[in-house]
Amino acid sequence: MDMKDTAVSILKILEEADGPVSGEMIAERLGITRSAVWKQIRELRRMGYDISSSRTEGYMLEGPTNRLLPYEIKKRLATKFIGRKIRYFDSAASTIWIGKQLCSEADLEALHGMVIIAEEQTGGVGRLGRSWVSPPGGIWVTIILKPNIPIERIFMITMAGSIAVARAIRKEYDIGALIKWPNDIFIGDKKVGGLLLELSAESDVVHYCLLSIGIDANIPLDELSPALRESITSLQAETGREVDRVSLLVRVLKEFEQRYLLLEDEEYESLVREWKSLSLTLDHRVHIRTLRRTFDGEAIDIDEHGALIIRKDNGKIERVIAGDCFQI
Ligand code: BTN
Repeated sequence: MDMKDTAVSILKILEEADGPVSGEMIAERLGITRSAVWKQIRELRRMGYDISSSRTEGYMLEGPTNRLLPYEIKKRLATKFIGRKIRYFDSAASTIWIGKQLCSEADLEALHGMVIIAEEQTGGVGRLGRSWVSPPGGIWVTIILKPNIPIERIFMITMAGSIAVARAIRKEYDIGALIKWPNDIFIGDKKVGGLLLELSAESDVVHYCLLSIGIDANIPLDELSPALRESITSLQAETGREVDRVSLLVRVLKEFEQRYLLLEDEEYESLVREWKSLSLTLDHRVHIRTLRRTFDGEAIDIDEHGALIIRKDNGKIERVIAGDCFQI
């Protein structure tokens, strides 16, 4: 849903006004008819803007919208390429499927940095093919990237994303969010977000990557199933108020772009260092479950491929590239 230039112009007039503005005045300023103004107002309301109207006084913007509307994001975003293009959906099965669809149809160079946003997802997917509960109020996004990064470093895009989410939460709410290996964002012992990287590659050429981010922002915990409530928290629950999702998403995108640029500049060390400094997993006893086995040990390091290094209780060193990790 992209906003027409006229709708953007009307919104700007309403934002700048101290009080109500008549349809006649808007029509005159934009050189359009009053009925065209009315049509655009109706469209803006449909998008979620709270615009009151009175026959005598005119139209008035009643307050900020809490939707992740592209216009609101772009207004505050000062990135070079991440989020300069946005696709927005009230509801989608999954932003990942939309990303894949777009990448199969359009010029990948033109899609680099595009952010796909859905207010809710009806078929959200998580790591290892699990389902991802995505009601309205969360931040459900996929970023399309055509990376200029060696294939053996591609996994570091998720590291950059996890750092960005943890840093954004820390900066916005002063909450000590941490990263649980591989890509979960935790507050205390509860998960508040997760990241997922999917790529389309052939031999050593990466066609595109989809970095997906899910953050439980304004999700009232009593709306979740009792099972989920045991392991999940939301920013609303942690801060005790509804959070400004636009502000958080803008911060995440900005923090991500900074780290992505480090990757392009081959500044791998500083990224790994930052990732480790935000790690909830390192130096803890963990229970590991991979497709083939389970074992306990101490998480002692992360190697240059993002694998977790475990010292098992018998002293043997194990390297885990994918799987579940539980703190014990
Ligand atoms: C995880 O399992 O921790 C990763 C969760 C990733 C969820 C996000 S929400 C936006 C995007 N669309 C999806 O269907 N999933 C990802």
